[in-house]
Amino acid sequence: MGIRRTRTQVGIVGAGPAGLFLAHLLHRSGIEAVILESRAREEIEGTIRAGVLEQWTVDLMNAMGLGARMMREAHFHDGFTLRFAGESHHVDVRDLTEGKRVTVYAQHEVLKDLLAAWLESGGRIVFGVRDVVLNGIESELPSIAFRHGGEGGGEAEAEELHCDFLVGCDGFHGPSRQAIPAGARTEYQKVYPFGWLGILCEAPPSHHELIYARHERGFALLSTRSPDIQRLYLQCDPHDDIANWSDDRIWAELHRRLETAAGWRLVEGRIFQKNIVSMRSFVCEPMQHGRLFIAGDAAHIVPPTGAKGLNLAVADVLVLSRALEGHYRAGRRDRLDAYGATALRRIWKAERFSWSMTTMLHTNPEETSFEQRIRMAELDYLVHSRAALTALAENYVGLPFD
Ligand code: FAD
Ligand code: DHB
Repeated sequence: MGIRRTRTQVGIVGAGPAGLFLAHLLHRSGIEAVILESRAREEIEGTIRAGVLEQWTVDLMNAMGLGARMMREAHFHDGFTLRFAGESHHVDVRDLTEGKRVTVYAQHEVLKDLLAAWLESGGRIVFGVRDVVLNGIESELPSIAFRHGGEGGGEAEAEELHCDFLVGCDGFHGPSRQAIPAGARTEYQKVYPFGWLGILCEAPPSHHELIYARHERGFALLSTRSPDIQRLYLQCDPHDDIANWSDDRIWAELHRRLETAAGWRLVEGRIFQKNIVSMRSFVCEPMQHGRLFIAGDAAHIVPPTGAKGLNLAVADVLVLSRALEGHYRAGRRDRLDAYGATALRRIWKAERFSWSMTTMLHTNPEETSFEQRIRMAELDYLVHSRAALTALAENYVGLPFD
């Protein structure tokens, strides 16, 4: 069978937060985009990942007309709790940032809202694509070759999507970053010697806000999803097998690490999802090569402690959508050329914040007892300094967007 040739203005690889926000932003500017996604819609909508949205991400979803369900179902918190050395400290984010709030709304709920709206608007998205190859990225006529269909026994179709620009929004393991020649990119990386074991359980909330806890046995985090479903994480060996973690062992560890404040109790419930993720900081520079741009986790990774990854992916594509708008509306090349440099200024600040939250709150087996003491001093200083708390709060809700 021959190759079907199709055409669009912007070809997007990946339907995570970066790909879907970009497609919507371009559509609003009258720019046509097609999304190619390797997974099925149900899988995307069922993958449990992030939970916290920065204030401007919430404002952007509302401005795009995509925030109605989020405004009904999300949890809006005035702050969060830091717990260490047997004490709890409330970080009043709203007070420290002139009214900004912490929004807890799961990533897969954001994706459900964006996917439904994209399909409703008549946008094209191809699920279950395979053998994605980016062609001619250094030329004026780039294209994406891929296969799709054939799952039900029918014949798979080969297609080549010709585009003005290609955008790799295909996450850390996708092919887009690798399409930039190795000699043309530099990768900065730090791998942490710990990971997070995350669970979802059927239980009422144990607290009205998130709790980030540092404990000598390791970090723990209490978050939420709904009045009946809670999300918790605990620091573990990144190479550990989830099979080693019975529900009883998980609860015992969470009780030990979180129940350090007088009178506070963690409510247990049936665990229905558990997994382990490793942690790294990673940045690829530049984020552009010829007519290929990369955005979100394809270009950078942060450890999840600062709750930045999804928000950073959206920030990238906001910058990129403005640059593409400048190109199509006014023939401007300058913003496209500046995309990486503009995005990287925000990315490196988020990398710094995520690294600092991670090192401050985790027990690192590779650190000396001197360094462990420094971490405790850092926390003690933080919760007793309004200046330090303000810096924490303004980073947590998202730095001003320029
Ligand atoms: P992804 O979400 O990885 O999407 C990439 C998409 O590309 C996927 O759908 C994938 O299937 C697709 N793809 C891959 N390869 C191909 C291919 N060859 N062809 C076509 N499609 C392809 N961030 C926050 O902001 N706040 C939080 O509270 C937070 N908590 C987190 C907690 C955990 C436990 C984890 C693991 C992450 C957390 N994050 C958080 C990070 C956040 O989930 C990611 O940064 C975010 O998903 C990045 O979005 P993305 O669109 O760049 O990439
Ligand atoms: C959640 C995840 C995070 O990484 C974080 O810092 C806070 C909350 C969550 O999944 O709810």
